[in-house]
Amino acid sequence: MIKPRPWLSRIEPYRPGVHASSEDGSLASNESPLGASPQVAQAVAEAAAGAHHYPDPLAGELRGELARLHQVAPEQILVGNGSDELIFLLAWAYLAHGGRAVCADPAYRMDEISSQVVGAHLTKVPLRAWAHDLDAMAKADADIAYVVNPHNPTGTALPLAALERFVAESRARLVVVDEAYIDFTDDPSTTTAMPLAREGRVAVLRTFSKIHGLAGLRVGYLVADSAIVETLRKIRAPFSVGVLAQAAGLAALRDAGHHQAVRRHTLTHREALTSLVTRAGYQVVPSQANFVLVEARDETELIDRLAGHGVAVRPGSALGVPGTVRISVPTTRGLELVERALA
Ligand SMILES: Cc1ncc(COP(=O)(O)O)c(C=O)c1O
Repeated sequence: MIKPRPWLSRIEPYRPGVHASSEDGSLASNESPLGASPQVAQAVAEAAAGAHHYPDPLAGELRGELARLHQVAPEQILVGNGSDELIFLLAWAYLAHGGRAVCADPAYRMDEISSQVVGAHLTKVPLRAWAHDLDAMAKADADIAYVVNPHNPTGTALPLAALERFVAESRARLVVVDEAYIDFTDDPSTTTAMPLAREGRVAVLRTFSKIHGLAGLRVGYLVADSAIVETLRKIRAPFSVGVLAQAAGLAALRDAGHHQAVRRHTLTHREALTSLVTRAGYQVVPSQANFVLVEARDETELIDRLAGHGVAVRPGSALGVPGTVRISVPTTRGLELVERALA
């Protein structure tokens, strides 16, 4: 029987969060509690008529709107099959065969897995007070430095000023800022690294899986120097973003009202979730994302308590932070389930 390349044996497969029996109780994967915009279903139904055509490899229409939104040239944007695809492309292009990367410990699992897959050397720098230790990360000699802002699974966020300092001081050739949760920060405009993506040493990743509620359709994008986009285009599967996903992304982007509603819901329910978990006697890491990390010396006890009321959450031990539990911001009904479980 053929054997995989030897370094692959060190990789722990990604373990996705599990769903509860109800939508309201499914709080393990940071999905949108309000779902996608109603415009998405209609756009997908219309796009299905063109299912026999290959998709536009560059998702031109979506790319054009994203370029206008972020005030960059379309050539600086690459739309991918979720941001996870783009993370893998970056690893193949800039880390394969002995490249070096630095990330936080715990890392976003795909940053870790992709660098292991391509045989890179990965330095993991422990968090300080639940946030990236940028001073320590800056000292690492690396081709790529990964910054997840807000960080998953802690929910802590760094201001743009801290990222600017990091980019100036870091030894990394490229800083990848993963902004999957940026829309849930108190002030995205002073947190996003998007202004730095125009310069060449910074690539910003965004996803439609969180605030836009399209996790099941797989759309994400990268904003970076056009030379980086050109390089990634060479190595990607050309039709990785399907016609339904492209149509859904466009419809979601155009529904600013839904975007605002999900943001408002997330901020109010995050506060309510934080205060009810705190009242129940747990410490909660102050979050800028659509989840909260709860300190629970006995993870299993808290997980079982929630499961008894139909709530599924993510064990911290599966995310590199044993002794914690990550709970996604729920619907109003989901909040009641959590409240009952903790009463
Ligand atoms: C930090 C971070 N980046 C990227 C992703 C994945 O995004 P996508 O669904 O676009 O692949 C996630 C999903 O949980 C995430 O937490």
